[in-house]
Amino acid sequence: MTIHEIRQKYLDFFVSKGHARIPSADLIPENDPSTLFTGSGMQPMVPYLLGQAHPLGNRICDSQKCFRAQDIEEVGDRSHTTFFEMLGNWSLGDYFKVEQIPWMFEFLTKELGLDARRLYVTVYKGNQELGIEQDQESIKLWQEQFSSIGIESNVVQDPIKEGMKGRIFVYDEGKNWWSRSGVPAKMPVGEPGGPDSEMFWDFGEDLGLHDASGIKTECHPNCDCGRFVEIGNNVFMQYIKFDQRFEQLPQKNVDFGGGLERIAAALNDDPDMFKINVFNGGIKKIEELSGASYDDQESVYAFRVLLDHIRATTFLIGDGIVPANKDQGYFVRRLLRRAIRYGKNLGIESGFTDQVANVFIDEYKNAYPNLHLKRDFIIKEFKAEEEKFIKTLEKGERKFNKTFDKNGKIDGDDAFELYSSYGFPLELIEEMAQERGQTIDREKFEKEFEKHKELSRSGSEQKFKGGLAESSEETKKLHTATHLLHQALRNVLGHHVEQKGSNITAERLRFDFVHPEKMTDEELHKVEDLVNEQIKKSLPVICEPMSVEQAREKGAIGLFGDKYKGLEKVNVYSIGDDSYEIFSKEICGGPHAENTVELGHFRILKEEASSAGVRRIKAILEKSA
Ligand code: ALA
Repeated sequence: MTIHEIRQKYLDFFVSKGHARIPSADLIPENDPSTLFTGSGMQPMVPYLLGQAHPLGNRICDSQKCFRAQDIEEVGDRSHTTFFEMLGNWSLGDYFKVEQIPWMFEFLTKELGLDARRLYVTVYKGNQELGIEQDQESIKLWQEQFSSIGIESNVVQDPIKEGMKGRIFVYDEGKNWWSRSGVPAKMPVGEPGGPDSEMFWDFGEDLGLHDASGIKTECHPNCDCGRFVEIGNNVFMQYIKFDQRFEQLPQKNVDFGGGLERIAAALNDDPDMFKINVFNGGIKKIEELSGASYDDQESVYAFRVLLDHIRATTFLIGDGIVPANKDQGYFVRRLLRRAIRYGKNLGIESGFTDQVANVFIDEYKNAYPNLHLKRDFIIKEFKAEEEKFIKTLEKGERKFNKTFDKNGKIDGDDAFELYSSYGFPLELIEEMAQERGQTIDREKFEKEFEKHKELSRSGSEQKFKGGLAESSEETKKLHTATHLLHQALRNVLGHHVEQKGSNITAERLRFDFVHPEKMTDEELHKVEDLVNEQIKKSLPVICEPMSVEQAREKGAIGLFGDKYKGLEKVNVYSIGDDSYEIFSKEICGGPHAENTVELGHFRILKEEASSAGVRRIKAILEKSA
């Protein structure tokens, strides 16, 4: 079945259940300044989930174009894509679990014919402090479905300990709670959310966890080993966040989101997302252009980068977002430039991205006619951006190679020169260095960056006090304040915010982070207030050593990547007092204050551009009044 057939089957199925079909909203959200891109099907539905009447009634379905910029660097493996389609059906205060669960089961097993023995589901554990019970109703409903076709469905209460001892798995809010901002503690006041029940496809035991000697060890649907892939999420959206508690929304909603491409991969029974039919044409074209083969281990990574990035930019440009140095356009530029470079790695000279884009336009033109209508515009943008970038690239690569051949490495200051004089993004320099088995000394790069700025600012020599070398009381406090700031920025601006650099002296903190535009005064105030609120709550700062995988599973933020490669354990610092009130969780070397109350009053002095798509905040701690 092609994804176009699956999409149609899903929409027909829910139309037959009384739903009105709506077209996909654009990738730039309308009237929603809190986020740059539409990243889930429910985003455009928020006003209706909160109670506003939908003009087409209280049963709606669609297939929504989604883009997640935070996944750019992950693309290249078999499962990550930045662009995807999310199938969605909503009950706006109409039906609830009793209808949704049997419908989903019917759709997956009868309409699509997926083997129910390979389906596993998860439900919410409940939380006394939130006053929310375990979702027994969903458990019962799933059990009825499985037993109707003679499949046993035991409930596993502690999946991490028990492993694959059943069919229905119970998890806490880390996994089975959904809101736009994540777990209950992270939700801002007024945000809707609720427990969810997810469906997983089992790609086969062989993919499961193995220990060092190759013996299979226990895994579970959410263990991220690659054996299971979540194909859909039924959110029972019935709560709204008030200060520290939840209230029932005036209506009980269902918010279902299903990954169209993932469902297609399940039907294909191949965990390689790029093996689904929509990519066939693109793969053929790239093979033709490069002479390389997708099936070749050496080339597959580059193929996937090209396929994902060019498909995503085709849709983004189709929605009117053209390459630029800021805002949404920054991401289009970054995707395209990354694709072009990987194209070169495959041996494609230049002038190719528009040809691949053309294939995607053909592939999707029936489902998304605007792509065909805007074909000339899209192709023109691809061509122009590629020409621009190729010129920069050629000059910069010559420089890179010359330096590398001469010195056997690229130093932080060489990287800075490539950045400042040749317009190479740092990520690109890092990737190029990695290909030659080297990592770039980021600290040195940043030092150069700082030096350059200071020099050009004052023309006089400035002494630069480095990093966390001094662990005086002041720097400890500023360090804790940096964690609060990082999380506050994510809460206020969105999850694309990611640390790019941090420097602390005894007087001030400096924090660089990914964000494509200048922050407004209102956003700055919100961030400041949020940090000061946490300080006033006297939250303890707790350090817990754990493996990088555990840290990731627990939702810790921080620089993953290479930095922690080979380390058995890292320190995770949590700021908060229990599982409900944890405000920030971050991998870090420390040291930190013991309690936020020591910090005093947090004040932002300045917000400015640091480099393309990266902002810089300088802030201080003052004695509280
Ligand atoms: N809104 C839910 C999600 O994005 C369905 O997973």
